[in-house]
This record gives sequence, C-alpha cells and structure tokens, in this order.
Amino acid sequence: MKEEAIAILQRYGQNHLLNFLPLLNEEEIHNLEEQILHIDFEQLQKLYEKSKQSDMLEEKKIEHIPYIDKEKLSPQELKELEEVGKKIILEQKYAVVTMAGGQGTRLGHKGPKGTYSLSTIDGPKYIFEIIVDRLKKARQNYGVTIPWYVMTSRENHKETLEFMEKNEYFGYDKAKVKFFMQGELPLIDQEGKVILGQDKKIKEAADGNGGIYEAMFQNGILQDMKEKKIEWIFVSGIANILSNFVDPILVGLTIKQNHVIASKSVVKTNPKEKVGVFCKMNGKPKVIEYIDLPEEMAEQTDENGELLYGEVNIATHLFHYSVLENLANSKLPYHIAVKKSGYLTEKGEYIEPEGPNIYKFETFIFDAFVRYDDMTILRVKRQEEFAPVKNRTGNDSPETATKLYNAMLSKF
Ligand code: UD1
Repeated sequence: MKEEAIAILQRYGQNHLLNFLPLLNEEEIHNLEEQILHIDFEQLQKLYEKSKQSDMLEEKKIEHIPYIDKEKLSPQELKELEEVGKKIILEQKYAVVTMAGGQGTRLGHKGPKGTYSLSTIDGPKYIFEIIVDRLKKARQNYGVTIPWYVMTSRENHKETLEFMEKNEYFGYDKAKVKFFMQGELPLIDQEGKVILGQDKKIKEAADGNGGIYEAMFQNGILQDMKEKKIEWIFVSGIANILSNFVDPILVGLTIKQNHVIASKSVVKTNPKEKVGVFCKMNGKPKVIEYIDLPEEMAEQTDENGELLYGEVNIATHLFHYSVLENLANSKLPYHIAVKKSGYLTEKGEYIEPEGPNIYKFETFIFDAFVRYDDMTILRVKRQEEFAPVKNRTGNDSPETATKLYNAMLSKF
C-alpha cells in the first residue's frame, strides 16, 4: 500500500485496516487506497467526537410556528394565489426535484424505493411511475413539460437510471429528466473505526437528504436550472406517493408572503406519531424530529386543544432558486444515527450483527431553514397529500399508502 495512504491511516487511528491487507488482492488494495485518499478523515474524527456529546434543545427558545390552513382560504383567495403560481408554471420557471438517494431498507425492498411496485386500482404501479403520472398530468393541464431532477446515491444511481431507461421514462420527455448523485460518508463503529464490506471496501453511505444542496451544485444541476431560468423548485421525498409537487397555490402563497422557502404540513395525529414537526427556534423556522422532541413538548396543546407542535413535516419543500444557490457551499450540522451494519473481520468472515453496531452521519434538508428569518407553512389535508411508503407492514406501509392513493386517484 502507498506510503501516503498508510500515513493517513496512522494519523487518524485507522491502522486496523492494514491488518486486512493479506486478505486483499492487488486490485482490492488499489481500490482501498483510492478510498483512503478521498475520505475526509479529519471530518470523520470530529463527527466521532461529536457523537459523544448531546445537543441541548432545552437551551434554545422553541415556539409554535404560524401556518396557513388551506382549507380556511376562501375560493377567491385560492383563485388569486393559483393565478400567481400558474403564471410561474406557464412561463416555465418551475422545476421538480425528487430525493431518491435513500435505501428502502425498512421496506425490505432490494433496490431503489422508486422501483417498488404497488397494487393500485389502476393496476400495478411503480413509485417512479406514480411520480411521472403526476408530471404528465401537469403537462396536460398546463401544456408545459416540467423539468424533473432525481437525486440518487452511489448505491442506487446505476439501477435507477437503468430502470427508467427500461421503462422509457414512463412516457415523460427524457430530455427533461436529469439524475444527480449525492455525497457519501463512511460508517464507523463505536470506537470510531471505519469498517469494510463484503466487497473489501470501506463502507460508506449516503450523507442524508441535506446533501442535496451541495450535490445540486457539484453536479451542475443549479447551472442547468439557471440556464433554464427556473425560479421555483419543489423538492420532495420519494416515499410520499401523494406528494402534490405541482402546486400553484403554494407558489402563489409563498410569493404573496414574500418568502423564499415554503413547506407543506399536515396535522399530527397523536403526540407519539414518529414524524418531524415545524416550530420556531430562537425565532427562526425549524423542524424537530420526533426523537429530539421532549415528551412534554410533544403533548402540549394550544387554546383550541390542538397540539402546539402539531404541524408535521411531510418532506415537501419549495425553494426560490436563490436559496439553493446560497446554500450550495454551506455546511449543515450532522445528525448521528446508531444503525446495524454487516462487516468484515480480519479473518475474512462477514458478520451480520444482531443489534446496532455503527454510527451513520446525516445532514437534513430542513436544517437550512434556520438560516432564514421566516418561511411559508401551508397546512394541507393529510388524506390528500401524505401517504408515505416506509415500513414493510403496519403504519406508513405499502398497504396504507395504496389505500390512500386509490381514494385520491379519481381527483388527480
Ligand atoms: C422524513 C423527514 C421527517 C418527516 C417524514 C415524513 C427528513 C430528514 N425527515 O423522515 O421530518 O416527518 O419524512 O414522512 O427529511 N433521502 C435521500 N438521501 C439520503 C437520505 C434520505 O435522498 O441520504 C431521501 C429519502 O429517499 C426520502 C427523504 O429523503 O425520500 C426522507 O428520508 P429519511 O431521511 O429517511 O427521513 P424520513 O424518516 O422519511
């Protein structure tokens, strides 16, 4: 192995990797060297140190976030907002981004989540197909083919592309679709050591959906949007098959409120629902994930008996182009998750652990919101816009999501 790579391993306490060398052939050693030279071990070390500290939410001033309830807007108001948003779409200043970099591990599906097939009343439909159906519907309604950008990760990029090619983009204009890969970070064990996978490479994983800002810049997506004179970009997760991502009303409202960021919310069903909620932190908009929301706050209600922190983040966000440009080079905080991952031993055995054994570091797209003074929150109806496919069975499963989707099909 090259001296340079060995020096890096020694500097960052990762020399255990040298014990694996007898197991590796020349090509595998070369691949490992390449990885060692590109990984930012300095950053990894800092993240490991951070994993031992806790983020004190109590020291921050948390408040309820103001929102607009779509249901309470008058037909006249809705019409006015729709006109403003429609103009943006007709002038071809609107684009859609789907975040599809995560793996559908919880779903038990081998392959990108978008390639999962659901049994709808219209017959079997892949999640990607459901998204394209909506884009095609917009093409029909507005006579405009909206540019569609799909964020993938190294793990699923090739498969996603091949799948879309094989299915001929489900009838959408291929020239209007672009894929871009997000970044990765190594997984580390509880001692801060990187681990090897079955392929004898250091195990890395997608760095969370907050990686979108940097990835859009690095992969020329921002440049492409600039050339196309796109002004508003709707970003949503792949899991929510009811994501209403061509929404002139949301665009109109955001422009009217003079904001550059907007998100949709639905009402939290109960204090224990495992979702992130919007709030204001030190006066700035923020999402707190359920794990970080103290129980007493989760249960707090307002004068109408509604949960004070009850505006659920459904991972549907609208950005003005300028925001994406501003955030292209900015660092977001990392969240640490303890997960289960198989690993190679120095004897060449591959072990699948019983319980969580590694740290995974991720940034979240919404952590950029606190950098802005305010944002638009539009509360929409859960049954119309939120049907996530996450778990194999039970809540947020293919079964529950398909049921909601079928009920909405006639309204599309
Ligand atoms: C997400 C929200 C949560 C919200 C919930 C609603 C985040 C971080 N959390 O939770 O606040 O209440 O949806 O269902 O947004 N993704 C990537 N690359 C990654 C990681 C994720 O593209 O590296 C994509 C996923 O494919 C998915 C979306 O981002 O479409 C959110 O994924 P995940 O981080 O798993 O968050 P959720 O648990 O779904």
